[in-house]
Amino acid sequence: MNLIIFGPPGAGKGTQSSFLVNDQKMYQLSTGDLLRAELKSGSDLSKQLKEIMDSGKLVSDDIINNLIEKKISDPSVKNNIIFDGFPRNLEQAKSLDLMLNKYDQQISGILNLKVDYSVLVKRISGRVSCSVCKKPFNEFFDPPVEAKDCNNKQCNSRELIKRSDDNESTVKNRLKTYDEQTLPILDYYRQKGIVKDVDAMKAINEVTEQIKAIINDL
Ligand code: AP5
Repeated sequence: MNLIIFGPPGAGKGTQSSFLVNDQKMYQLSTGDLLRAELKSGSDLSKQLKEIMDSGKLVSDDIINNLIEKKISDPSVKNNIIFDGFPRNLEQAKSLDLMLNKYDQQISGILNLKVDYSVLVKRISGRVSCSVCKKPFNEFFDPPVEAKDCNNKQCNSRELIKRSDDNESTVKNRLKTYDEQTLPILDYYRQKGIVKDVDAMKAINEVTEQIKAIINDL
């Protein structure tokens, strides 16, 4: 089963993906995490990427599709991928269909995290993530557990990281980009009858329960 977790910045895509990784043993393919890993390399490409990401715009489809195909073609994660932060426009959605078809796979469901924009700035401004396993926590809603209590023992060397694009002006632009380019692709998936709406205004564990119920029905 391959799934897409969908929603605006701060909706909880990364948070709920952590559950799918730990509980359902799925592979999380987060384009944001892959891009942030590239940023650390200090390459010429990383400088361009940082500028784009800090402006809240989308990185070019060519770069993204390349990253995605490397993973879709990997037999060890075949039919077990949770796509987080991808696709983000109609071109990426169509490319994803072509790539999945090429490697004899498909999408079983889109988990559409529905959330009022009014809560997003607080969720994003309170976010800190584990430097090892990337799990997001929140200073207001979901304080970080002690690293020693984490499922992943390597998290003992954890630092808590704040993202450079988690500031108010970039968040405004990220939401604008989401509204203009990403939200419209829901119609593309609704026509295929695979969109599953999730009330993401609820507490984190209640959102997880809704997702569990959806997965059981797929
Ligand atoms: P990306 O990293 O994908 O960021 P995003 O889509 O903006 O989403 P976020 O990671 O901000 O939010 P999330 O929904 O994962 O929320 P989280 O679970 O962390 O993209 C960053 C940039 O990379 C883009 O702007 C773009 O430039 C580029 N990019 C990435 N993919 C691309 C692509 N495909 N094409 C082109 N460019 C691309 O939760 C947020 C906080 O809220 C956490 O602190 C969490 O603890 C808390 N929280 C979560 N759920 C709840 C809840 N139910 N109640 C209370 N608090 C909650």
